[in-house]
Amino acid sequence: MYATQSAIRSVPKGNNASNAIKSLIAIHQITGQYLNKKNVQADQRNHNPNSDHGFEAFSILTEVKQLLASSGVQDGVVTPPDPGASLPGTPPSNKRNISPLTLQPAAIHSSSRPAEELSGSARPPQEAIMGLFAQMSVASAINLFKHWGVFDAIPVPHEVGDAGAEILAVGISFADLAKKVNVEEALLIRISNMLTSTSILGRSRDGLYHTPTSLCLVSTHPMSAMFSLLHTNIVSVSASLPSYFDTYGRREPVGVNHVPITFHEGKPELKYFELVNQDPKRMNEFMKAMSITHSSRVPTTGVYDMSSVLSIAKTGRETVWVDIGGGGGHIVKLFLKEYGHDGLKASQCVVHELEDVVEGASKAAQEDDVIKDVRFLPLDFHRESPIKGALIYYLRHIMRDYSDQVCANILRNVARSLCSEARILISEQITPDNPAMASQPSSQQMYAAFKDFSMLPIGGKERSLSQWRSVAAAAGLEISRVHMDPKGTSHGVVELKLAETGDEKVSA
Ligand SMILES: C[S@@+](CC[C@H](N)C(=O)[O-])C[C@H]1O[C@@H](n2cnc3c(N)ncnc32)[C@H](O)[C@@H]1O
Repeated sequence: MYATQSAIRSVPKGNNASNAIKSLIAIHQITGQYLNKKNVQADQRNHNPNSDHGFEAFSILTEVKQLLASSGVQDGVVTPPDPGASLPGTPPSNKRNISPLTLQPAAIHSSSRPAEELSGSARPPQEAIMGLFAQMSVASAINLFKHWGVFDAIPVPHEVGDAGAEILAVGISFADLAKKVNVEEALLIRISNMLTSTSILGRSRDGLYHTPTSLCLVSTHPMSAMFSLLHTNIVSVSASLPSYFDTYGRREPVGVNHVPITFHEGKPELKYFELVNQDPKRMNEFMKAMSITHSSRVPTTGVYDMSSVLSIAKTGRETVWVDIGGGGGHIVKLFLKEYGHDGLKASQCVVHELEDVVEGASKAAQEDDVIKDVRFLPLDFHRESPIKGALIYYLRHIMRDYSDQVCANILRNVARSLCSEARILISEQITPDNPAMASQPSSQQMYAAFKDFSMLPIGGKERSLSQWRSVAAAAGLEISRVHMDPKGTSHGVVELKLAETGDEKVSA
């Protein structure tokens, strides 16, 4: 899938548009075959978060189909013109007689917005600033449509034919949609303009239809939960940031409470997770959002070299893997699926979680053959674990929720359980020390900066290797190895051991 994704991004940008068409047709066929082989359409229809590659393939296929269609190519065949007008509420016919030579580079890249466009470096300054507000308006329109249930009210395509054919061929007229969601039609159209002009929703003559992007905003899709989480944490809280820093001082938040989001919601004394946990629906949505934080872009397995863990697991060690803040066991499950045949047993794994989470998670795990023998034990990770002498204490996407001081305290507590051969693994993004000097493309730099900024409202941060080194040192630990994602994302695993001398190794 990676190869296919880079292929679509690298379709010729110059004048050679007929070669571009040929490349698109080839990608179309390959992706279609992949989808057929994997039989992922059903997963896609059900918004199965675990069918990540299927989802990517599906999105690529649809993107390719749209590009081909805009050049008059249907399912790999150039089609004659279709003079017929579109039916109300249905997408326009794709069969337009456009010469392949009219396929412009701008069209090829229309759905992937380069960072330069967002950051403004490729635009005149005033336009760049206006562009930022245009992006915010898109987020605002999505938020409103989610609140009104508009994405759920637009028919989701169910009839997926060969290689995704007909996938977008359903829609709804504005009049019917307005009735369905109880919003004045004129208002609905105005707000939808923000989303159709940015290709988030498709616009027919007098109605709307779903695109691959808008399908991710249907309430059953985990991305919809992620959108709401980010909208609350970034957009809503941003209004309170000036008064937060006026109140607490112009410095990074340091504690577990009195962070921007709890301040914004008028409950500064609460920790972020206490705030979320107060509302079961909100907690549920949070967990749903988290389910997409393991994907090909945020890898889980395949980054850390498990060979020594597996050889020790095979010796029958009682506890090998302790996943601290491991949610419903979804991450330990990925490890067991990947390494279960190589010696790692569910009974050698522990998930530590908040008491309320453990209750539901251990019950649900009984229904799951992969994790039913995993031990779910309550632990507030700001305190010491009762599990001593395990081989690996694993923290994925935990530390980034907290300040340096809180992280050092969490690590100090874990360190109390370590024997000399034990290791702590921190699985997170590793940011460059100076993003502007990094060799990464600017889109990755911006994404890294955005992820760090999105942690600020809850009092957390993303860290560079030198920041990890000082947090570890404050907890009496040192970095023994760093494993970067071999696929080149900014995700990595920082391996820590009890401090003695520095013999840190970095592998890519
Ligand atoms: C961002 S999620 C990460 C979940 C999982 N590790 C992953 O990578 O998908 C943070 C997790 O930490 C748990 N958590 C929050 N505060 C905790 C605490 N004080 N003690 C134990 N777990 C906690 C939350 O319930 C949540 O499951």
